[in-house]
Amino acid sequence: MTIRSYDKNKIKKRISEYEVESRPKLFISGDSAPYYGVIKKALEDSLLYLVENPEDVMIDYDLLMNSGVHVLTELLYVTDGSVSGMKVIDLGCGSTKQSTYFSDRWLPYMSEILTRFGAIVTGIDYRPNNKASYDHQTIDLIRSDRIISGDFDLIIAKSLIDGLIGKSSNQTMEDKILEHFSGLLRSDQLTITDLDVTQYGFKHVFFREFNTLWYR
Ligand SMILES: C[S@@+](CC[C@H](N)C(=O)[O-])C[C@H]1O[C@@H](n2cnc3c(N)ncnc32)[C@H](O)[C@@H]1O
Repeated sequence: MTIRSYDKNKIKKRISEYEVESRPKLFISGDSAPYYGVIKKALEDSLLYLVENPEDVMIDYDLLMNSGVHVLTELLYVTDGSVSGMKVIDLGCGSTKQSTYFSDRWLPYMSEILTRFGAIVTGIDYRPNNKASYDHQTIDLIRSDRIISGDFDLIIAKSLIDGLIGKSSNQTMEDKILEHFSGLLRSDQLTITDLDVTQYGFKHVFFREFNTLWYR
């Protein structure tokens, strides 16, 4: 893949070309989509790099392929492979600290893949990453009083609610993650999330509406 520099204006133009009734509507088909092969290979390489002991670790490749690979393929399609220098924050990015519990086995593959493509990534999780090639910050997003802020081109908050720790209800957790969102909003911004962020002016870019790419 030719890595090109991220350019906000190019994405704005590309997305506006596909707008129907003020919503960008794109469709790319699964495995034969441009960039799919690049992302699949980057995922395989990243997972192998992140695990200490491949035999000890449960990785749900199917789940990763079905959600993560497709949404990253969409991102590369919209940016036309230009993610170098893109500023990314990945909330609940995952960790190299594995356990047998479902919500605890998630590796920070999105942060890792985007870093390999030249993006400048900050990943936040309450669990650590001793192999991070990006800026990994160990923060409890629910219990911390700090609201995350900063200037990012892409906000990722994917598959977080099911895996969130804390004793409050999911609604409270969702509200707290959205509060972090409100501290991160910029113009011409992308997000990858399964939360409803229409209240912040984000619109779905692709027809797939779960775990997908939004733009505002
Ligand atoms: C289901 S996993 C999803 C990981 C990754 N975003 C993905 O899509 O593969 C949920 C992640 O949220 C993290 N997490 C759960 N509760 C958290 C909290 N209160 N603060 C920060 N991270 C949390 C977990 O450690 C886990 O890595």
